[in-house]
Amino acid sequence: MATRSDQSVADVLLEQVRAAFSGTADPRLRELIDALVRHLHAFAREVELSGDERRAAVEFLTAVGQMCDDQRQEFELLSDVLGLSSLVETSVSGKGSTLQTLTGPFYSRGAPWRELGDSINEYPLPEDVAAVIHGVVRDRDGSPIEGAVIDVWQNATNRLYAVQDPNQPSGNLRGRWRTGADGAYRFTTVRPVSYSIPDDGPVGGLLERTNRHPWRAAHVHFLVTADGCRPLTTEIFDAESDYLEDDAVFGVARELIVDFEPDGKGGVVAQFDITLEPAANAAR
Ligand code: BEZ
Ligand code: FE
Repeated sequence: MATRSDQSVADVLLEQVRAAFSGTADPRLRELIDALVRHLHAFAREVELSGDERRAAVEFLTAVGQMCDDQRQEFELLSDVLGLSSLVETSVSGKGSTLQTLTGPFYSRGAPWRELGDSINEYPLPEDVAAVIHGVVRDRDGSPIEGAVIDVWQNATNRLYAVQDPNQPSGNLRGRWRTGADGAYRFTTVRPVSYSIPDDGPVGGLLERTNRHPWRAAHVHFLVTADGCRPLTTEIFDAESDYLEDDAVFGVARELIVDFEPDGKGGVVAQFDITLEPAANAAR
């Protein structure tokens, strides 16, 4: 007769749990839940999780849920600071196309349509440095894409996005453009500044207990769409920003860091060319 050991009890339990889920009809859900159970059990066994620790985790997740409402998604933030959002988003990027990154909580649909070259700064602040950002949207064959829609959002130099700040006009530092026949886009904005992700909730508490800061490197977000192409969410980072090495949500990739060069008139200019993937390459 097999002697009782923690190892064998845990092994039997794991197999019982896996068997209990094995009748899941949806094959993808079956795969996901089976892997989740295996990894969760392996995690608990590896760290020898105590009852108190399991209860503390439940309390933490309860607090995360209680922080959520239509404006605040603390579970997304948790996914972001654990690197899960970046892991999943970057994994859909094909070789040769612009890297997909996380969206973050501050995107909102319906940015004002603008003319190429327009400024999106409707609320100038004393610290603003004018920045021109331009580039060309291409397909994977290198052909410029006419009529691609660039949708941009960015925080102001007071570190807040318009959606967070009642003092800013709702369209401030947001805009949409269609590329011309040459695939080019161009707009004027402010040089981006770093800012803190919302850290007044349980995720902020987690950062504090783990000796992490809540800062994101200075960036500008892009959502780029075009017929026949997979929509791309990405962002560019100012090469002179702090936190490029330790962005709180692990969004920075070398290929997304751009130089903001002096334009000789007190402002800066940055180039960011974008390559979209065919829609057929769309991952899940
Ligand atoms: C952002 O870049 O807007 C963002 C991303 C993740 C969490 C918080 C903010
Ligand atoms: Fe952002």
